[in-house]
Amino acid sequence: MTGTTIIDGRAIAREVEADLATKTSALLERAVRPCLAVVLVGEDPASRVYVRHKTRAAERIGVEARDHALSGDVSTERVLQEVRALNDDPAVNGILVQLPLPPQVDENRVLLAIAPHKDVDGFHPDNLGRLVIGEPRFVACTPRGCMHLIRSVCPEISGKRALVVGRSTIVGKPMALLLTQADATVIVAHSKTQDLAAEVGRADIVVAAVGRPKMIRGEWLRAGAVVIDVGINRGDDGKLIGDVDFDAALGRAGAITPVPGGVGPMTIACLMSNVVEAAHRRLDRG
Ligand code: GUN
Repeated sequence: MTGTTIIDGRAIAREVEADLATKTSALLERAVRPCLAVVLVGEDPASRVYVRHKTRAAERIGVEARDHALSGDVSTERVLQEVRALNDDPAVNGILVQLPLPPQVDENRVLLAIAPHKDVDGFHPDNLGRLVIGEPRFVACTPRGCMHLIRSVCPEISGKRALVVGRSTIVGKPMALLLTQADATVIVAHSKTQDLAAEVGRADIVVAAVGRPKMIRGEWLRAGAVVIDVGINRGDDGKLIGDVDFDAALGRAGAITPVPGGVGPMTIACLMSNVVEAAHRRLDRG
């Protein structure tokens, strides 16, 4: 049995960022600086960390990141007001509202209010719907990053059996659509799936996005499977743990992403890619 390839998400993200830095330099020569507005509501520590990672990535590639911090007790109307102002601001190419929002804020109303051509998260129904009909505009960053990571070790996805564990709107569903578009045979497993171990055992590609530490056991995997772990769970010792039992998967999987250092950096690189694309689209629209 050959060893398991550990997919280095940080290294692949750096390659994507280097390419984006070249694109932003070209845009700057045309007097355009791509601009991302990040709306952060409240003080959620994990959200603050994510936003800081996004801001730093923006700095590295020459994208302007504007922080719009709102206090944790704001109303839905106040968040909508902020989003509408950003929709109307011609200097802003992309808008990201960091999730989760506090319970009193209606998340769906906020996401619906983002202008689809600035929705760099790809969460607006207009962008999700375009993905469904095979004419994507902005694709959600995590699934897009996962496709990149899969292709890095498995260039021929066509005909493969892919299992997506989790059916969220921001990861599982768009992930299944992207894999379908790449001609994989796709199964979506979720909390009501009867025999998850058997489904995992049949899959050439497994994408785990459930948010439960080590839920996917190493011995369930088909030998040689490509395993993409979207889970970011915090253990009792404060360390990050994926949805897959990484140590048990080593030696059995053909390739696997680590947590941290796998999907996370690629999500951010894909966000930056969407912002640069938004700036290009605006130039092309004139
Ligand atoms: N919270 C966790 N992941 C994400 C993401 O990809 N985008 C936004 N906006 N919020 C998140």
